[in-house]
Amino acid sequence: MTAMNAMSPVTVPRVLVARQVFPEVVARLRLHFDVCSNDDDDAWSRAQLIERLQGCAGAFITTGERIDAALLDACPDLRAVCTLAVGYNNIDVAACTARGVLVSNAPDVLTETTADLGFALMMAAARRMSEAERSLRRGEWTRWSVDQFCGQDVFGATLGILGMGRIGQAIARRGALGFGMKVVYHNRSRLPDDQEAPLGARWVSKLELLREADHLVLVLPYSPASHHAIGAAELAEMKPTATLTNIARGGIVDDAALAVALRQGVIAAAGLDVYENEPALHPALLELPNVVLLPHIGSASRPTRLAMANLAADNLIAALTGGAPPTVLNPEVLPRG
Ligand code: DGY
Repeated sequence: MTAMNAMSPVTVPRVLVARQVFPEVVARLRLHFDVCSNDDDDAWSRAQLIERLQGCAGAFITTGERIDAALLDACPDLRAVCTLAVGYNNIDVAACTARGVLVSNAPDVLTETTADLGFALMMAAARRMSEAERSLRRGEWTRWSVDQFCGQDVFGATLGILGMGRIGQAIARRGALGFGMKVVYHNRSRLPDDQEAPLGARWVSKLELLREADHLVLVLPYSPASHHAIGAAELAEMKPTATLTNIARGGIVDDAALAVALRQGVIAAAGLDVYENEPALHPALLELPNVVLLPHIGSASRPTRLAMANLAADNLIAALTGGAPPTVLNPEVLPRG
């Protein structure tokens, strides 16, 4: 599409919105761009994604589209890739930077919503909520009994957090301030004292974390370094009464090893929102009573998802109209000065 002014023709950049997003966000993008939007939310193959990106200067993506060197080479007009997620393990940022392609993600706006879900999932696993509800729905609740669905306490227990970024700290706040939990964490870098102190949070080694946590919550980014950070060996270090909650990314947990550990009582229960090959699940997980399974809904409240989409739009608009993208991951590609 070409808009004309009195002096010269101005080419309106073309952008692709790879998944269905909120119409009001697409409408905002249409004020600036020629937008091709996947409004039917069709499942595009990689070849279809590349085909639709031809001639596009911008890509508005989610967690499912893989942006790597081969795709970038096949889409030479691309200048900005903006994801509505905070996690960006599906984007090869170095390959983008090498080609001058700006990358942005959507941090902060989802922190509290995702922490809420993480805490709820941890509680559901500890208190066997899904298992109890499934039993009730099957009509098995015929009388109250003293040891029925007895789980683990959350209040006053030791909350372990692997990955103490913004979401990890928000979960720690909930545990420490709302539930009187002791907080231990492991992270590449230790928090400054003034952030640790209000939470009573204590940095420990990964092994100490595994051994001390009553409830271990994973909130670290996925990378080759964190692949299978929790496998059979790590699970074996945990308490048999412990729970494990993963709201970070599939692949951080070895799902097959976790299924074996849950079946054998190596740990008591798990809560999972993300999976190694999602949306496919390891079949063994589906057979187990002591795991709460959610379909990657950590940030899924309407206001938060809308804020994430608007932030991605802010980034895309700024990136392609000479503005300052608010949450750019590779600022080195921005024009200097
Ligand atoms: C993220 O933002 O990374 C979430 O996983 C998507 O909800």
